[in-house]
Amino acid sequence: MYNDNPTLTGPAKIVDESKQGEVFFKDTLKASKKHFYIESYGCQMNFSDSEIVGSILSEVGFSPTRDVESADLILINTCSIREKAEENVRQRLRVFDKIKKSKPGMLVGVLGCMAERLKAKFLEEERLVDMVVGPDSYRDLPSLVAGAEEGEKGVNVFLSREETYADISPLRLGSNGVTGFISIMRGCDNMCSFCVVPYTRGRERSRDFFSIVAEATDLYNRGFREVTLLGQNVDSYKWTNPESGNTVNFANLLEMVAKVHPDLRIRFSTSHPKDITDEVLHTIAAHENICNYIHLPVQSGNSRVLDLMNRTYDRAWYMERVKSIYRIIPDCAISSDIITGFCTETEEEHQDTLSMIEWAKYSMSYMFFYSERPGTLAHRKYEDDIPEKVKRSRLSEIVRVQMQVSFKHNQKDIGNTFKVLIEGDSKKSDLDFKGRNSQNKMIVFPKSKDCKPGDYVWVKVYDATSATLKGKIVIGDG
Ligand code: 5AD
Ligand code: SF4
Repeated sequence: MYNDNPTLTGPAKIVDESKQGEVFFKDTLKASKKHFYIESYGCQMNFSDSEIVGSILSEVGFSPTRDVESADLILINTCSIREKAEENVRQRLRVFDKIKKSKPGMLVGVLGCMAERLKAKFLEEERLVDMVVGPDSYRDLPSLVAGAEEGEKGVNVFLSREETYADISPLRLGSNGVTGFISIMRGCDNMCSFCVVPYTRGRERSRDFFSIVAEATDLYNRGFREVTLLGQNVDSYKWTNPESGNTVNFANLLEMVAKVHPDLRIRFSTSHPKDITDEVLHTIAAHENICNYIHLPVQSGNSRVLDLMNRTYDRAWYMERVKSIYRIIPDCAISSDIITGFCTETEEEHQDTLSMIEWAKYSMSYMFFYSERPGTLAHRKYEDDIPEKVKRSRLSEIVRVQMQVSFKHNQKDIGNTFKVLIEGDSKKSDLDFKGRNSQNKMIVFPKSKDCKPGDYVWVKVYDATSATLKGKIVIGDG
């Protein structure tokens, strides 16, 4: 799932990439002399990586700060998925450069997908950058920082076949103390023709199963009540125990994490329609604490376009998977990613995407228009021939239909009571709590003095927009 919205949930809407970027901090760290400031863009994986970076830097005496002006080291964890995401980073770098001019010795580093894509070119193009570090090279950060302190600009964009940072306990930077991410695999072996990820994050590799269960257990013991297992394609998780030779698949992993504690909720992202198995669906159905929510990006509702996108499934296959989800987990919510205006897409094919939104009854979608990325299969093979005006008008139609579908989806919840994990104060009022139900819908409800973030409460819904549900606590667990 693509994190354009810091709450990770929300209405059907056009993504505003200028709103991305989240500053991570943690006040409880012991004070140290040097401070780093980190901003993250892109997917949840990137946010999770920033927590790994935080952990690596804290080992060498850096503390996080929220205040960019007081930082010794500014890091920007970047995304390359669309051109707009890269433009934002360039703009931020110019802002950092101004700050840097008034603070001699301050260092600026570019991390993540854009670092990987542009490599050393970054140092030439953007003189303001002191180091460029790809997603598999974060262990090298301390030495790159030390080099940069001596005036040596550094680049490490080596992509590994093994690195999973399995042994690193992430520094839970911007955490609410209730929900946390666990990265279970890295890279991607799918070759979707529009996508830059295989080039920026390298080959797919799964993380040691035991370290994942240990991290989930540790989070539970520290008061967390929800973990989201992250990977570009979680359904192809596969780890073989080098000692026993036994292989763990994603269904097995889900089950083992679910058994950490019945009060620990499990979510996961992202599923690929070609790989999600009935075994996974039955595992979700069998465990109350594995949430009934699947992010299953369709990208397009038309089989010819899906073929050009190299998604390796067609419309009929996707529909069969959706039917199986609703059959095995009847109250499951499904969300999607949609790209409109892909090369040669006709008006009729666009209509297939609109009908898919209605047919699949997505609770929400992340919707984008196609942005050609240098080096991808589509860039090499097809012409980006849909005029921007057409892309924009198709996108607004898609958004309109999704809003209606989300609205209906939410209206159906009125009168129902859901088990909600309290995440904290609602955005609009500190008299209200917010929390999500199993289907990943955000519910806002008046606080009760008997409950606090991290508690489960039963909330009856009495009102709904296309974005949020409103409710009242009917039973709290105190
Ligand atoms: N243009 C537009 N959207 C894209 N995505 C990935 N690559 C592109 C691109 N080149 C979208 C896909 C993916 C989500 C993370 O971003 O929908 O699932
Ligand atoms: Fe995440 Fe990188 Fe893809 Fe952006 S380009 S969504 S950061 S994997």
